[in-house]
Amino acid sequence: MNRREIMKGSTALAAAAATGIRPASAQAPIVIKFSHVVAADAPKGKASDRFKELAEKYTAGKVKVEIYANSTLYKDKEELEALQLGAVQLLAPSTSKFGPLGFSEFEALDLPFIFHDEAAFKAFANSALAKQMFAKLETKGVKGLAYWDNGFHVMGANKQIRNVKDFQGLKLRIQGSKVLDATTKAWGAIPQVMAFSEVYQALQTGVVDGLENVPSNFWTQKFYEVIKYIAVSHHGHLSYAVVSNNKFWNELPPDVRQGLEKALAESTEYFNSIAKKENDDALEDIKKTGKVQVYPLTPQERKSWVDAVLPVHKDMEKRIGKDTIAALYKVVDFKPA
Ligand code: LMR
Repeated sequence: MNRREIMKGSTALAAAAATGIRPASAQAPIVIKFSHVVAADAPKGKASDRFKELAEKYTAGKVKVEIYANSTLYKDKEELEALQLGAVQLLAPSTSKFGPLGFSEFEALDLPFIFHDEAAFKAFANSALAKQMFAKLETKGVKGLAYWDNGFHVMGANKQIRNVKDFQGLKLRIQGSKVLDATTKAWGAIPQVMAFSEVYQALQTGVVDGLENVPSNFWTQKFYEVIKYIAVSHHGHLSYAVVSNNKFWNELPPDVRQGLEKALAESTEYFNSIAKKENDDALEDIKKTGKVQVYPLTPQERKSWVDAVLPVHKDMEKRIGKDTIAALYKVVDFKPA
């Protein structure tokens, strides 16, 4: 997508708001386009709908939120570019999508096995490091507003993956992060970067053999129709960052911004309260379809996955920054073996 195509998705009103020019009529609401790539009934879809409801309520009609689910406005990488250009005002992308835009620190969150549990992610989200990472976004026009915890990745494929040798030669869809690329290669698989909206068809036609993701995405995107196995590996984590266009956000009237901040704080709480249960339920629903074999890894099998990818932590120091990795280890209490 070039600049003109990206701007196509923007109404004159939204563009005016993004550039700080207020609409002619004082009565006209400020339009916030909130674009995302998942289904409306996935946790991000539900929380964005909740945000719309609360934002319109708390700003007493001064803001109108338009939700665009399922990549209907922009696909993965385009949405962040569109945000920087002011064509869209709110997103909640996976943090794995920030690296390719030049924010490689965020790829620390993709380091394999970095988060032991939900508490570890929460510790990160509340840390000074998380704030510093948001501050970095502002240097390129992006305002970081909240972190959302969408839980742990499982591995779905058309083949059963138990020991690391089972990865050999499999083509696995990944998001754009270099850490995910290195991790996939360390397992002996072949990474294929692809937009989320293209995954179902790529699985169906054999362009890829599988992918990592959270159960709620396997369920709401119906990936279970086009894979045969899911290893409950919890080898990685899906973190979202709610972001806005920096200029747009900073130039909002203070009372409006306050209302939006309150709506966002409550939507964040709501998101974090439903995501784990939605993942657990999705896994049960997938099992019930009888189409997919869902299995845990034995401790030995899991160890073979861990041993193969721990060197990735060290290899990525140059890209992510040694200090950032060390700070994250400390915050989440990760001890390299
Ligand atoms: C993906 O692209 O795999 C996911 O990050 C999509 C999402 O936003 O959950």
